[in-house]
Amino acid sequence: MKIARTIAQLRAARKAWHKAGQTVGFVPTMGALHKGHLSLVDAAKAKSDKVIVSIFVNPTQFNDPKDLAAYPRTEAADLAMLKPMGVDVVYIPNADEMYADGFATKVSVEGLTDCLCGATRPGHFDGVATVVTKLFLQTGADKAFFGEKDFQQLQIIRRVVADLNIDIKVIGCPTMREDDGLAMSSRNVRLSEEARAIAPSLRNVMGKCIIDVQTGKTIADAVQDAKTRLAEIGFGKVDYFEFRDSKNLELLEQLDGPARLFAAVFLEDVRLIDNVAIK
Ligand code: PAJ
Repeated sequence: MKIARTIAQLRAARKAWHKAGQTVGFVPTMGALHKGHLSLVDAAKAKSDKVIVSIFVNPTQFNDPKDLAAYPRTEAADLAMLKPMGVDVVYIPNADEMYADGFATKVSVEGLTDCLCGATRPGHFDGVATVVTKLFLQTGADKAFFGEKDFQQLQIIRRVVADLNIDIKVIGCPTMREDDGLAMSSRNVRLSEEARAIAPSLRNVMGKCIIDVQTGKTIADAVQDAKTRLAEIGFGKVDYFEFRDSKNLELLEQLDGPARLFAAVFLEDVRLIDNVAIK
């Protein structure tokens, strides 16, 4: 497993692979890896000849400097997790090369970025879309693997790739969960023992809300009941708890096509997000 810390090193590896007719799969991450990330690496291994994983805590997608400072950085542990998986190159760019002096270009997606996480995190998805576009161009990969855990991000990246005609196939992969149902996240380590015990209830409240709607409650009533239940259990502020169309992310007042339930809820000072497909 090689480590590339510059764009030149990364490009040299990719050019050799493409010259030899090999396909390249890419998994972008911000590190603090867990089994959710590793499931993307597995998918990339299964669907490509060579695999690049990037680790870069992208400053431009954090709108809260405290959140950026608190983001876990665990490079040695990350590399130890990736090595046995047969990853070919781990790309760990430095911020100075990523955002060189005079940097002034932004990829900004309209519409899809206004709702859900975009509503409370201004500029977040511009930061994501810009860095992911740069990473796509830097890696020159044929396929890129993203988790449905960040479903809005996945749909935004699909939009960027379609709109800018980037020659890469975006592949969405299912959300990995702990045994108790909590969606795996690098932020979970920041939960106290007490909060960690409460956290899986989010998934249960979402499941109950979906069943309520499927058995005749209106979405408005079911969502209200779910919010009340979350407060009773000990969750803090609810950023959103919404049924939306799976493709265009439009808010739904009733179910009549492919839809998902999306939630972002605070527990202590940790913001948990989750989303569940409606069968
Ligand atoms: P990060 O939060 O590190 O996530 C990297 C990838 O892992 C994303 O595609 C995310 O959806 C996926 N992932 C996270 N938790 C998962 C889980 N429990 N199950 C399955 N997949 C999971 O998302 C980012 O980084 C950044 O925004 C990035 C795309 C790297 C741009 O900076």
